[in-house]
Amino acid sequence: MHTSQDLRQAEAVRLDAVSKIYGQGDSKVAALRGLSLGFADGTFTAVMGPSGSGKSTFLHCAAGLARPTSGRVVVGGRDLSGLDDDQLTMLRRNRIGFIFQAFNLLPALTVMENITLPLQLAGERPDKGLIRTVVQRVGLAERLGHLPSELSGGQQQRVAIARALVTRPAVVFADEPTGALDTRTASAVLGLLRESVDNARQTLVMVTHDPVAASYADRVVFLADGAFAGELLRPTADAVAARMTRLGAWEDDNQHQALAQPSGGRY
Ligand SMILES: Nc1ncnc2c1ncn2[C@@H]1O[C@H](COP(=O)(O)OP(=O)(O)O)[C@@H](O)[C@H]1O
Ligand SMILES: [Mg+2]
Repeated sequence: MHTSQDLRQAEAVRLDAVSKIYGQGDSKVAALRGLSLGFADGTFTAVMGPSGSGKSTFLHCAAGLARPTSGRVVVGGRDLSGLDDDQLTMLRRNRIGFIFQAFNLLPALTVMENITLPLQLAGERPDKGLIRTVVQRVGLAERLGHLPSELSGGQQQRVAIARALVTRPAVVFADEPTGALDTRTASAVLGLLRESVDNARQTLVMVTHDPVAASYADRVVFLADGAFAGELLRPTADAVAARMTRLGAWEDDNQHQALAQPSGGRY
């Protein structure tokens, strides 16, 4: 049996009573309301919830990209609220990978230059073996000299994923990493993310709307109105879809259609 103290020590990321309020006066919005959540080392968690439930705000606060209004975020045992902006930047460079929904690739840099940019920023010598492995696993070996504008959306997303993995970050945060991908590419990307957890013991936290994508995770955490709204362990796509329906979490008709199709689990 683990005691709660043991579990706490093995947590890669911990949020304690995190609130985030945007705006002032009448236009105040409470995006997160006292959220407490832990993410164990070497686990893959999917985060789901209705539009506006605070998923992106949660991810930004957990990754040190935004500061909570109150409460505490602890990454790798370090309380982020005790760090100044430079220290926070260093911690992000050394421990955290972030896969943005909009890819955020630099248009003037080649695929290879985009992928190795975080290493350059961190002043690290590139580990050529690791880069070769990541590039092959995301299927970009033939595209290293191309510019992002010469790639499809799915290829750009895979560049963004490779870029997040080459520094071997302890924790990877991903905001809808398969949102722009066709189902075959999505399944390749999810397999790669799953492997990075199983083989490299990385901790992965992924926001998604897709029950099939969520079924690759060890755990699904549901948010509603900026607060914890339940979780599922060892999720199947069907169980996730059923929970989403109960939460009223479907954002548009596409997802109702996706639910109506027999899914049978993974892609
Ligand atoms: N920069 C911002 N300024 C003001 N309100 C914001 C900002 N970002 C998000 N919000 C609001 O906070 C709430 C949560 O947003 P968000 O975290 O983006 O939710 P989700 O990712 O689940 O759709 C929403 O009501 C949204 O309108
Ligand atoms: Mg969002």
